[in-house]
Amino acid sequence: MSLRKIVIAIDGYSACGKSTTAKEVAKILGYKYIDSGAMYRAVTHYFLEHYVSLTNPKEIANALDGIKISFHINEDKETETFLNGMNVEKEIRKMKVSDQVSQVSALKPVRTAMVHQQRRLGKDRGVVMDGRDIGTVVFPDAELKVFMTADMQVRAFRRQQELLEKDKLVDLMEVMENIHMRDKIDTTRAESPLRKADNAVGIDTTHITLDEQVDEVIRLAISRILKVSF
Ligand code: CDP
Repeated sequence: MSLRKIVIAIDGYSACGKSTTAKEVAKILGYKYIDSGAMYRAVTHYFLEHYVSLTNPKEIANALDGIKISFHINEDKETETFLNGMNVEKEIRKMKVSDQVSQVSALKPVRTAMVHQQRRLGKDRGVVMDGRDIGTVVFPDAELKVFMTADMQVRAFRRQQELLEKDKLVDLMEVMENIHMRDKIDTTRAESPLRKADNAVGIDTTHITLDEQVDEVIRLAISRILKVSF
């Protein structure tokens, strides 16, 4: 019996638990996990470090030519993001990157470059990718599309806890403002705005646990895998 591998796209708003769910689902299925948001964060980190002007197309194009993003698994089996061979996992989670990432991600050349890399990473299928436009633009043919939402207070509190685990104490109001600002830019931008794909399954994570989220996605994934395999 050979089971076909599928693409699982998990899109949605910031801090709804997309990455945590996607990582766990990938581990259970033996699939690759790709954090597309980490790629946009790495580009933003590079732009900040090199003072790239967001209104200068030539500078943006040159910068994109000089960026190579890769993922490596560390000894704790966690995926870490590398930019031009340097581990930037810690840097890209900082608030200074969160404050700029949606402006950078709204730029067309940035999206074109990242979508190209994301499609390459998922070309053999067997991948769980989370982001904003995975089900709508990157893999419109994904066999399973999930769209996650959650109440703002819950999302902000969860993100604050995540930052605390990395020894970063950020004011709840600052976290909330950042999430609110990114939601606004991500949903209203001209290029690939955040929206639920017509055939995506909606999951509201406000009142459910991480285990319940993972169970639900696994249940959906198994039914899609069986459907395409037989
Ligand atoms: O972790 P969180 O949900 O807060 O965000 P993320 O997945 O790390 O993504 C950071 C930012 O990258 C988002 O707010 C979007 O502006 C952008 N992004 C995007 O435009 N398209 C994607 N596929 C993924 C992220």
